[in-house]
Amino acid sequence: MKESHDAREAARWAERARAAGLSIGLVPTMGALHQGHFSLIERARRECDRVAATIFVNPTQFSPGEDLDRYPRSPQEDAESCRERQVDFLLHGQSGGDGGVYERDFQTWVNVAEISEPLCGRSRPGHFRGVATVVAILFGLFKPHRAYFGQKDFQQARLVQKLAADLRSGVEVRILPTVRDADGLAMSSRNRFLDGPSRELALAIPRALEEAEAAFRGGEERASVLEQKVRSRLEAARGLEVEYVSALDASSLREPADDRVSSTPDGLVVAVAVRAGKVRLIDNIWLRRSSG
Ligand code: PAF
Repeated sequence: MKESHDAREAARWAERARAAGLSIGLVPTMGALHQGHFSLIERARRECDRVAATIFVNPTQFSPGEDLDRYPRSPQEDAESCRERQVDFLLHGQSGGDGGVYERDFQTWVNVAEISEPLCGRSRPGHFRGVATVVAILFGLFKPHRAYFGQKDFQQARLVQKLAADLRSGVEVRILPTVRDADGLAMSSRNRFLDGPSRELALAIPRALEEAEAAFRGGEERASVLEQKVRSRLEAARGLEVEYVSALDASSLREPADDRVSSTPDGLVVAVAVRAGKVRLIDNIWLRRSSG
């Protein structure tokens, strides 16, 4: 595995792979890797000739007062995990300087207008502009054939799909299922900040989503009812602070027409954000008739 801190070297590596007719799979991350990331790398490994991963705690997607400084960082351990999974190129992104992810005197922003608005867009102004911008830069550097994102960050994954299509990047964006711990909690780099009681509280999230999923499988079609089921369950977990619960059309992230799951071309996403202790957690279920 080639490791580099220089974005220009990443571009040269990708150029050589493309020139040799090899397909490139990209797994962009902020590091502190866990099984969720590994599932993306492993899928990329199966589907592409060359796999690149990036570790870059992207400052532009954090607002002042968010956890940029506290965001977990474990670059050496991460590199070892990437090597074990046969990543070919690992970029440890740097913010500035020669070879930084952002050019000196950087001035260009990417804004995916509508998809950035609901859910996390409301509570984290500017967040998705930072995500879209850095992903567009990474797509420009690596020119990957495919890029891999986890369903846990559903809004982000949809936004990247839209960006890839709107900018005619040619990148096929894959959304892979959320990986969960044995108790059901969605894996996240921030889970390591949960103390025992907060983690216990956080388990209300998968339980609430499972209940809604069971209701859907049992024939419940109304988005508002599914949403309310999740909200009631979360609000009953005393100590958990609910930021949002929202059931939206999974492709547009708009309210589903006439409140029916059947009116959504690609199903319904029921998405939640909560605070358990000091930790903000997001999760979702994606309900589709065809998903069995
Ligand atoms: O999901 C993440 O880790 C980040 O938001 C991403 C996509 C790597 C962009 O910084």
